[in-house]
Amino acid sequence: MTGAVDFRSLVPRRVVIGVGAVDRFLAAFRPAFPDVEFRAAPHTAVTEADLAWADTYIGFKRPPLPTMGRVRWVHCSGAGIDSWMYPVELPRDILLTRTSESFGPMIAEWALSRALAFAQGLRDVEARQARHEWADLPVRFIRGTKVVVVGTGDVGSHIASAFVALGADAVGVSRTGRGDRSIFRAVHTMEALPSLVGDADWLVLALPLTTATRGMIDERILSACRGAVLLNAGRGAVVVESLLPKALDAGWLSGAALDVFEIEPLPADSPLWADRRVMVSPHISGPTTVDATVVGFRECVEALRRGERPSWTVDRDREY
Ligand code: OXD
Repeated sequence: MTGAVDFRSLVPRRVVIGVGAVDRFLAAFRPAFPDVEFRAAPHTAVTEADLAWADTYIGFKRPPLPTMGRVRWVHCSGAGIDSWMYPVELPRDILLTRTSESFGPMIAEWALSRALAFAQGLRDVEARQARHEWADLPVRFIRGTKVVVVGTGDVGSHIASAFVALGADAVGVSRTGRGDRSIFRAVHTMEALPSLVGDADWLVLALPLTTATRGMIDERILSACRGAVLLNAGRGAVVVESLLPKALDAGWLSGAALDVFEIEPLPADSPLWADRRVMVSPHISGPTTVDATVVGFRECVEALRRGERPSWTVDRDREY
């Protein structure tokens, strides 16, 4: 949305919420916005009639319909807004905002739990317990390791903080080379990545999916690794996923914990499911919470009521 926009005209009156937890969302939104009418359905069940009725849509994913009907504002309830950019960008005359929820603390717990599972060999511990087997196991620690975190925003910074709290050395990589230097010992731009991963123990991806990041973790980056564990909580398509078995066989990676995939749900015939070096989780690292969705939506509505562009408006050119 560019040029002179009458933001007050976007103050919502009829909102469709495209989520699975229909009852919980309606129970929170209706009393919070008594002058607004709400309907809710899983995004795949939203109908053309719903979108012809609504002026506003809240949801993580786009309903599988040809157009957004009469909707003039979409408020994305997830951390990443890529489903509103790909495969087809939401028309630019529709306002696109994102939730203000901080997903970083939750995703940091996901990342740390996976890193500890690898370091402590939890899979082996469990397998040996099942066999009633008492045997020495090599245990590693986070302390003294190096974590390279790609993406130094809210998510990447919280992940880095969690590793640093356990004594790791955190190096950040970002588009701009900026990041919180009280957390990251150093922050570099993306071009430096191949030279940083060689001695990394952990390579953590906390990136949005954009034209620039799609396929960014390719053979050049993976083959520069020397046994790092890859943790991806950003977007699956940032990694050339088909290369992962080769990267593990070659020892470029010693393991991978993946919460996101090029295709979700991960297809049943993906080799990643059965690979003992890979921990698969079903995109659960940072679940949207209802209360925070209400707060973020309210912040945007208040800006619109004042006739202002919400500060949570997505930068369409930057793609996040
Ligand atoms: C995401 C989310 O953007 O789950 O990945 O919210």
